[in-house]
Amino acid sequence: MNEDKNEEDEEQEMVEIFVMGKRYEVPEGLTIMTALEYAGYKFTRGCGCRGGFCGACSTVYRTEEDYKLKMDLACQTAVEDGMFLVQLPFMPAVREEYEIEKVDPEEHDNVLLDHYPEVARCVSCNTCTKSCPQDIEVMDYVQAALRGDIERTAELSFDCIQCGLCSIRCPADIKQYHMAQMARRIYSKYEQPDSDELAKRVKEIEEGKYDEEMEELANMAEEELKKRYDERDIVEEG
Ligand code: SF4
Ligand code: SF4
Ligand code: FES
Repeated sequence: MNEDKNEEDEEQEMVEIFVMGKRYEVPEGLTIMTALEYAGYKFTRGCGCRGGFCGACSTVYRTEEDYKLKMDLACQTAVEDGMFLVQLPFMPAVREEYEIEKVDPEEHDNVLLDHYPEVARCVSCNTCTKSCPQDIEVMDYVQAALRGDIERTAELSFDCIQCGLCSIRCPADIKQYHMAQMARRIYSKYEQPDSDELAKRVKEIEEGKYDEEMEELANMAEEELKKRYDERDIVEEG
């Protein structure tokens, strides 16, 4: 650590954290992700968007004063004094395989249950909902899946970022987010009304309307591309 960094540290309030048991002092107010980088760790896994959207940075921690294991996204959670941290590079939950052409809900009593029968073991403890950093009503979508309501499962899980935190402490060992992703895919393919706008845009792409623009972007220098991105028009919904 150099002198400049020591002077900076003196002016900043520091907190004590433990990473895989090793103690570090890091500036208060950093996210867990930036605190780990401050401590010298380099992310090669478990880090993506840094903005709470990709679900790659699941983290488990506890503090000395509280017996509970807590879970959150490292890029969205500030460090606390006395935090004991463990990073999870991905959530090792089984995702069932299926061919989307063969899961027509009209041909199954409950196609979600067929692939994720453990959903029937839900004991309605609501732990999954409390664990979700997106504030999704996870237990409610599990219950909708149990009733065979694919549309409701898809709607309620729409903002899921696939971080897997809901499944970590599920006593029934349910892979809520994989099951819900299947529901959204089935809903999109078999139940959602066709979009005229989408059909129009696909036709335009097929006819080459954007070829020139794509070519221009593909050949653009990185700085120019960033500038173009920052200045882009954002169309508000509604
Ligand atoms: S944590 Fe598991 S058992 Fe509890 S409500 Fe959620 S899905 Fe059901
Ligand atoms: S539903 Fe589960 S996987 Fe999806 S965002 Fe919430 S905790 Fe993460
Ligand atoms: S890095 Fe993408 S959600 Fe944290």
